[in-house]
Formats: sequence, structure tokens, C-alpha cells
Amino acid sequence: MSILITGIGELTTNDEPVHADAALVLDGDRVAWLGSAADAPAADERVDVDGRAVLPGWVDSHTHLVFAGDRTAEFAARMAGKPYTAGGIAVTVNATRAASDDELAAVLRKHVAEAVAQGTTYLETKTGYGLTVADELRSAKLAAEQVDEVTFLGAHLVPADMSTQDYVDLVTGEMLDAVAPHVRWADVFCETGAFDEDESRAVLTAAANRGLGLRVHGNQLGYGPGVRLAVSLGAASVDHCTYLSGSDVDDLAYSDTVATLLPACDLSTRQPLPDARTLLDTGATVALASNCNPGSSYTSSMAYCVATAVLQMRMSVEEAVRAATWGGARALRREDEVGVLRVGARADVHVLDAPSVTHLAYRPGVPLTHAVWRAGVRVR
Ligand code: NIG
Repeated sequence: MSILITGIGELTTNDEPVHADAALVLDGDRVAWLGSAADAPAADERVDVDGRAVLPGWVDSHTHLVFAGDRTAEFAARMAGKPYTAGGIAVTVNATRAASDDELAAVLRKHVAEAVAQGTTYLETKTGYGLTVADELRSAKLAAEQVDEVTFLGAHLVPADMSTQDYVDLVTGEMLDAVAPHVRWADVFCETGAFDEDESRAVLTAAANRGLGLRVHGNQLGYGPGVRLAVSLGAASVDHCTYLSGSDVDDLAYSDTVATLLPACDLSTRQPLPDARTLLDTGATVALASNCNPGSSYTSSMAYCVATAVLQMRMSVEEAVRAATWGGARALRREDEVGVLRVGARADVHVLDAPSVTHLAYRPGVPLTHAVWRAGVRVR
């Protein structure tokens, strides 16, 4: 089944520009053709988007969607002045362990649907609210049924009933062996209150030896070793990057490790926003992601992240849109296939109810998603 999309007011491809009167053909799950409407081939169906902006679907490269329970009270306390700490994760761990498989799958389904309805077409999610071999394995399997990319985050927090050394041994041994066949990535929360540099290196090295790609939660709540470690181990991405030293910025600028910024999390935890401008000006690759999770960032809205990046982080609209599409794809090492509109890419298309992507920042908070195709299937 092929679909010709015409009437495009502005086309963002993250690839070669299409200059005038752009049109797009989707065939099955791929982009089959792209060019001027006057030259468009015939297709089974024609959709006129009536002057609206068309862009690749959002690539949300950082979420934590396998969870149960609620942390509204913790959020409210934070807004009243209490600081965010890593310890809040334990509340979600208890609720997640107590939930049935069906309950966890339903929560995940609800959040994936919520994201897709807002234009997200490619999603990563993490384990990390199980923290036993059985619960982490269950989270990984449930995630793999519903999202595009799964990350093992057994090293999210040391459970209260274990010593750090015993838990690191478990994460790098039996737990990794059990979960590795179901995930592509491994991650570690390298932060005060979670895992220190040596513990984080042990987790990442064990995962790399099992053939997993690496991601790091780093420099979220203060300056620290996360970025340095991520870059030195060739991680695909280091996520948060809220507190960066000059040498962290240089490390990112001269490496392949993507700096994934999570502005919704920084706002929700009352942290400063990351210095995106310096990262971009120095040559680092920047991604924007939602970090949707019940503790530090309970939003699935990539448009909110883009608007925040433009209005408060001095990114241009074009930079922010690219970071939330191509940047996320790069952070997942999928940039040839998603986050881009070119022949052969996955047919992930987002149509805005606006004539240009500028409206994402010009009209913050307004739901602007008009239509979404995910792998060629119209989902909105
Ligand atoms: O990315 N920083 C660690 N993990 C999540 C928060 C998890 C939670 O508070 O439940 C994050 O912000």
C-alpha cells in the first residue's frame, strides 16, 4: 500500500532539502520517494496536508516506562522546596515488584500510545525498577514487546537489602546473563546516591563484554565522572549533562558520544537547564529526549522538550527539532533509518497542525500533532 503526501507547507528531512512544493511517497514501512509534487509517482492513496509542516517522527531515546505506582506526593513536596534525590526510585521499585505482568504491560501500553499520539514514532525504554534478576528480566521482556529499543538499567539504585558490592556483582553477573538476550543497551546511573565511577565502570565493562551497547546517566545532580566515563568507554550517549565542566564539554565535542539533554526532567527536579549552546558551539552532538518516568520527569511530550530548548536553552528551532529527531536516532545509532526522511528510511512521519516547525516554540503547550505515520501505518 503506497501513500502520496502532498500539500506540504514545509518539509524537514534532516537530509537533502527539497526546495519547492515537496511531496513524499510512503510504501509499506519505508519512504519510497521524495521530491517536487509535480514529479510525484502515482500511489494507492493520496493525502493532502493542506500547507502543514511535515517532519520525521520524534525519536525519544530516553524513557523509563516499565513501572507501576505514583509519585505525585514526591513531586508536590519538590515544588514546595524538597530536593530530588536518587532514593525516590525505591518507591517505584516497590510498586513495580508488586504489580502483575498485565498491570505493567498496560501502563507501558498507555504511555507508548500517549507518546505516539504526540508524534513520537521511535522509542527507547529502560528496565531499572525491578532490581532483582526476576524483576529486571520481566521488565526487559515486557519492554521488548512494545518499544523499539530496550536498555538494561539494573544499575539504577542499590536495593536496600543488599550491599553495593554484592549488588554490583549481581548486576554484572547473573542479572546481566539473564537480561542480555532481551536488550540492545546497558546503562548505569553514575551519580552520588547511586553508583560511583569504579562501580559504573564495572557495570559498563561487563555489559560491553556481553556485546551490549552502552549508555550512561551522568552529571544529572552535580559535577561528576559520568561524561568522562561514557566517552572513555565509547558509550553511544550520556544522558542528562546538566552539570558539565569545560573538560566534559571538550570530551563530548571530540567524541562520538551523544549528549542527550532532558530538559523536562531538569524543570521537574528544579535543576538548572543544561548549557546546550556551549555543547553545540563546541561541536558536540546533542539529542533531546523526554525521560518520561514517574519520578523525575512525568511527561511524554517531545514538543514540550523542543519548546523548552528553544525558549530557555538558546537552541534554534531547527537545532531543537533536529536534536529531537536525528539526534535521538544518533544516540541510538539508528540515524540511517529513523529521525530522517529519505528514500529507504522508515516511514515515520509527523504532520503538524501548523505551517512551520517554528510554531512548536511559538505556540508552546498547544497540541500541534495533526497526523502520524509510524512505520508506514497511520496511527493518528
Ligand atoms: O533519568 N536518574 C535516574 N533515573 C531517572 C529517574 C528515576 C526516578 O526518579 O524514578 C532519571 O531521571
